[in-house]
Formats: sequence, structure tokens, C-alpha cells
Amino acid sequence: MKFADRLNNVETSAIRELFKLLGKPGIISFAGGFPDSALFDVAGIKSAVDEVLATQAGPALQYGATEGYQPLREQLSAFMASKGAKDVAPEQMIVTTGSQQALDLLGKTLINPGDKVIVEGPTFLATIQCFRLYGAEVISAPIDAEGVQPDALEQLIIEHQPRLVYLIPTFGNPSGATLTLERRKRVLELAVKHQVLVVEDDPYGDLYFDEAPPPSLLSLSPTVPGSREWLAHCGSLSKVLCPGLRIGWLIADPELLARATMCKQFSDAHTSTYAQATAAQYLQSGVMPQTLARVRAVYAERAKAMGDALRSELGDAVEFVQPKAGSSCGCGSRARVVRSATRASWPNARLPKALPSCRARRSSARIPMRPRCACRSRRLTWTGSARGSRA
Ligand SMILES: Cc1ncc(COP(=O)(O)O)c(C=O)c1O
Repeated sequence: MKFADRLNNVETSAIRELFKLLGKPGIISFAGGFPDSALFDVAGIKSAVDEVLATQAGPALQYGATEGYQPLREQLSAFMASKGAKDVAPEQMIVTTGSQQALDLLGKTLINPGDKVIVEGPTFLATIQCFRLYGAEVISAPIDAEGVQPDALEQLIIEHQPRLVYLIPTFGNPSGATLTLERRKRVLELAVKHQVLVVEDDPYGDLYFDEAPPPSLLSLSPTVPGSREWLAHCGSLSKVLCPGLRIGWLIADPELLARATMCKQFSDAHTSTYAQATAAQYLQSGVMPQTLARVRAVYAERAKAMGDALRSELGDAVEFVQPKAGSSCGCGSRARVVRSATRASWPNARLPKALPSCRARRSSARIPMRPRCACRSRRLTWTGSARGSRA
């Protein structure tokens, strides 16, 4: 069978391959960004489902608008306002099937074969794959613990004239880096100055442990005139509520949003109305703040345990910044003890054929995971759980 040429640019994700290991007893993958299913608010979701079926079964089980189920758009608009983005009307967003679909719609809407896009190095592998599927040449911009370096980014924008710049400014995956307030303003200014679209992917912004991160680019955009036009924001309930509902959203300039909506029509017509109605009901019930508080507290404890274990077990062999939020920690190998299975996250690197393995020894520190683990990645996460293993 002959397949489309566009498939020549992509390969299946090594991380998705690692997910298969999760079924094996005693194995905990630190590589994939699975939230811990034990933290899902099953009771809250069940009561939302019951309420939906009792009061709005018709629309919740019917076809719906591609833009999204209106009650959910209203709840998401209020949710964004509670996080500082106060002026996002329901009509300025569309609901997507996970934020992954928002990224796909951006690729579909904006990228022609041969176009260049700039991403952070490293960045979320699935985004690279998605943009490559549309023929993009992916250019990597350097980051440090404070996120992307604006001067270097500007040089790359001038040199490559990219179609878009994709950033995870808050608790990046896989780096864990967070863009400072000053750099956020610079990024918005660069967007306006060079008239380049900046995509802010923000699935982790709510997962802070103690101190809230700087405002999102979206929240800051009113302070940088003209920047809103050059900004697209992707949000998700996956990391804070659960990924199974597949609720994400895209906020963008009206013209871009209209075209993305058209592409979504051809793709899945609309995100599950049942899932959208459930999410809307859940948000309306007002329990989200408690859910967030619980998730933050557990992940804070696990992130600390992972940092302690890395220091005590691997010592000088690795370098990493103790994460203050999110679910991932970029872990660099000094002595090749932890080797990269996710090189494809570094867009200019090649994926190794055989994945090397590393078994972390049990730390004397209280580590809320089982002693045996698959520790094969530069991105280490602490959110997932294996069967029977609890903090
Ligand atoms: C940075 C980033 N963006 C987007 C996604 C996709 O999330 P979802 O499609 O579940 O909303 C993920 C999932 O791991 C991610 O880490």
C-alpha cells in the first residue's frame, strides 16, 4: 500500500512505546506525562455525569457545535478569568479534543510543507511530530532554567522567518523550566515586532506547589499592545482533572479561530458533547479549587521525593533543577548514567535504535513509588502510579 509522503517526516513516539511497559508489574515509567489516576476526582465526575444525564441528556448526547458546547465555553471563560485572563469571552475560544488537537489544528491551519517553526529545545515531542506531519522544518531555540532565551529567539526569528513560535512558558515539558515575567514581556514584544504567531501551550500552569508562576502570556497580552493578535493559547483539563475526558481549548485571533474551527469540522465535527457537558457541570459545581489543591500537594511531595532520590542515588552523575511545579524535570546526564530515550524531544537529535535502560536504586528517602523503575529518559515525571503503588 502506498502512504502519503507526509508520513515520511514522522515516526511513532518513543514515549508512547514506553507506555506499554506500564502494564508490567512493578514497573513505573517516569517518562510519560500520565497524571496519577488515583487522584482523579471520581466522585465529583460521577456527580457531574449524573446531573448531566438528569438535566441535559438531550444536548449532551446529541451532535453539537464545532466551536464547543456553550455552557462549557462559558465555564472555561470563567476558569481563565480566575487565572488572570479576564477578557476571554466564550466566543473567543473553541473547545478541542485535548490540547493536542488544538496543536494539530494550528499545524493544519498554518503550516505549509517547508515552512519553518521555532520550538524550545527541548520541547514536547508530540508537538514536533505534529508540526512535522504538516511538513514543517523544526528549529530549536535554546532555553535555560528561565525558559527560552529572548535574544537567541529573536535572532532565530530574523534568520528563519518562522510560521510560528511554539512555547511551553510555564513548567515546560520536558525541561520543567518557567519563563520569567521579564522574558514573557519580551516574547510578546517580539511577536508584535516581527509579526510572528506565538503559540502558548499551557497544560501545566495550575500545577504549582507553593508559589504561583508569572501570569500566562495570554494574561499579560493586554500590557503589550498588539500582542493578542499574534498569540494563540492552548489549555487543557488533562493534567488537573483527567485526560480521559479529552477536554482542551484554543484561544486565538478570530480569523485564525474561524479557520481552525473549519479544519476541526472536517476532522471530528466536535469534541464529545457528553464529555463537554460533564466538564462544564464539574466546573460549575465549584469543586475545582479543592481538586487543584489536592493534586498540587501530592505532586509537590513526589517531586521532592524524586529530587531527594536523584541527589542521593545518582549524585554528581546527573544535573537537574529541583522542580517547583508541573510534572516533569529535565535531567541531564553528566556520566551517561541516565541516557536519553527521548532524543526526539530535541528536534535536531536522532532517536537511538535501542533504548538503554537504567535501574534506579531505592532511596533511603521516603519515595512514594516502588523501588524498581524504568528510568530511561531525560524527562522524569512523578505523577504516574503503577498498580498497587501509592504515596
Ligand atoms: C506540553 C503538552 N502539551 C499538550 C499536551 C496534550 O495534552 P492533552 O491533549 O491531553 O490536553 C501534553 C500532554 O502531555 C503536554 O505535555
